[in-house]
Amino acid sequence: MVKVITYGTYDLLHYGHIRLLERAKALGDYLIVGITSDDYDKSRGKINNQQSLIERIAAVKATGLADEIIVEEYEGQKIDDIRRYNVDIFTVGSDWVGKFDYLNEYCKVIYLPRTEGVSSSMLRAEKRKLRIGTLGEGNLCRKFVREMQFVNGVEYRECKETLDEVDAVYVATHPKQHYEDVRRSLEAGKHVICESPIALSSEQYQELINLAHSKNLVLVDAIKTAYSTAYSRLLVVAKSGRIGDIISVDTVCTSLEDGAWEAGADLSSKQNSICAWGPTAMLPIFQLLGPAYKSSSIVARILDKDLNYDGYTKVDFVFDKAVASAKIGKAAKAEGEMIITGTKGYIFVPAPWWKTDYFEVRFENAADNKRHFYQLDGEGIRYEIVAFAKEIESGKRNFYISEETTRAIINVIEDFEKGNYVEI
Ligand code: CTP
Repeated sequence: MVKVITYGTYDLLHYGHIRLLERAKALGDYLIVGITSDDYDKSRGKINNQQSLIERIAAVKATGLADEIIVEEYEGQKIDDIRRYNVDIFTVGSDWVGKFDYLNEYCKVIYLPRTEGVSSSMLRAEKRKLRIGTLGEGNLCRKFVREMQFVNGVEYRECKETLDEVDAVYVATHPKQHYEDVRRSLEAGKHVICESPIALSSEQYQELINLAHSKNLVLVDAIKTAYSTAYSRLLVVAKSGRIGDIISVDTVCTSLEDGAWEAGADLSSKQNSICAWGPTAMLPIFQLLGPAYKSSSIVARILDKDLNYDGYTKVDFVFDKAVASAKIGKAAKAEGEMIITGTKGYIFVPAPWWKTDYFEVRFENAADNKRHFYQLDGEGIRYEIVAFAKEIESGKRNFYISEETTRAIINVIEDFEKGNYVEI
């Protein structure tokens, strides 16, 4: 029996794919089709698949041409597969000519002529682009617009007063301005992704969420960490029981970047520490331990009482069977790491944990430790844009950050804004 193997993404399965599979099948008696996993595609810079792995597998299966479907998950897997399945022929389209000659050592390599005039990229590009505008100044907006270039299916448009030119808005104004800007955008019928916190009180947040729901619009937090692969995997590992029961989540986020710490700095235009770092620092706490904490306490070092401007803040939480702490500061510097303590081991994420591509699961016996690496491009912002665009297109919640998590974050910030903290 002659075994043939071929690989591809097979996003939005088209005529070119089917012709390739038919000819691949005709080369032998048994056809194995390797379909790239979402993570593997992400690591090769293909972040824009319209369909999930499951959908892509279902489409290839429905052609009836594959005798076996496998998932391609890592660089170098092709050699492993060829050996494992005793493959005689490896084949792909002619767009890859030369790239897989190194496999000649293991089996016969055949490049089949590519079908002209059709590709997944073309089909993705045919869809009307989602026009996203930005509200706000500075670095955050610049980064967001730059990252949009890596996501096909979206394009940048300048926001005019009426917001007529856009379908969606990225809000990165001063946190005190968020509520107004988000409300105005939703009222104009625009989807919104807003730098966290979306509002400074839970009442305002509820009003915005109700407005978004009533108009069938998407309203999500822009916390880029939530969209990074390493972070998502870390949540899964922590919840899987590998480190036993989680008994403490401790996060540290500090930066001195915007000069808030300098004597005489104009703090009125700057975000305070709780708004700038609180959402990121609290994200894993609520995502791992749930939004329902039993009690919390805030200690803050205040730089300007009138502006409620904290240079350093520590928030402690008590949950039913766990504790947590978030230490944040824009006028303080510490190691920006995260530690998740469990009854059997712990997860360590080195600084800066909020944009990491790496974490370690550590145990009493260091020989059992495991390191995890995942590619992170564009600090996670481009994945955040992909998720936002997908949510708008599909009309389905993507669950990267639930409304409950957003609400829990806002509750703590509201507490702070009301002055419910011990000053040091
Ligand atoms: N293929 C083909 N003819 C086309 C498109 C793809 O023969 N018009 C082949 C590729 O050479 C590959 C397989 O189909 O062997 C899967 O290709 P894939 O990369 O998934 O599809 P593309 O349409 O090329 O996707 P993209 O535009 O995202 O690169």
